[in-house]
Amino acid sequence: MAKHTQNIHPVFERMLGRADKAALLGQEARVFWMTGLSGSGKSTLAIGLEKALYQKGYLTQILDGDNIRSGINSNLGFSEEDRMENIRRIAEVSKLFVNCGIITINSFVSPTRAIRQQARQIIGGDFVEIYINASLEVCEQRDVKGLYKKARSGEIANFTGIHQPFEAPEHPDLEIDTSRNTIEESVEKLVDFVLPLIRKKN
Ligand code: ADX
Repeated sequence: MAKHTQNIHPVFERMLGRADKAALLGQEARVFWMTGLSGSGKSTLAIGLEKALYQKGYLTQILDGDNIRSGINSNLGFSEEDRMENIRRIAEVSKLFVNCGIITINSFVSPTRAIRQQARQIIGGDFVEIYINASLEVCEQRDVKGLYKKARSGEIANFTGIHQPFEAPEHPDLEIDTSRNTIEESVEKLVDFVLPLIRKKN
């Protein structure tokens, strides 16, 4: 046991459980983990999915790379080690939400299989992997935030897809190609996929 955890006495088992909270909310919580290149459409689709679910009465929380990195993870950069720590914290935060019965919609580049494996390990069976697929060419052409241009000119280092690899998931639970679908079509696909997983059975 790590030294700093020796005098820690968690009280998880004395607290109200996840089932109590899921029953209160009338939903099953899951972590919908969207992975993909910067500019692939993760944040846009997360927002679209959240709105659609809200209209159907589901309580969700979006966890998004740029937001999280301006708050709880503002001390982290884009080295492999920092990205690991970024995702580790997010996975732990997601677990807290899920234990509270809340569906989380996560959009993080989470570029390597090892990074996503770490998230899966922390979150367990509630981790649902969604690959938001758009080729580097498409993302670079969109360049919504102007970051690819900066990466090409050397103004930004360690940029995923340019200096560092993006390892596509081998067996994602769902894959959406945003270069072949409109935003509306992609959101519809997401909603159709997600609904059976979050509906309370009784
Ligand atoms: S992750 O790799 O650790 O999962 P995360 O999703 O949190 O990344 O953050 C990615 C976002 O940070 C991108 O959408 C982009 O706006 C911004 N960003 C800034 N620098 C980089 C970089 N070097 N590589 C990737 N994204 C970057």
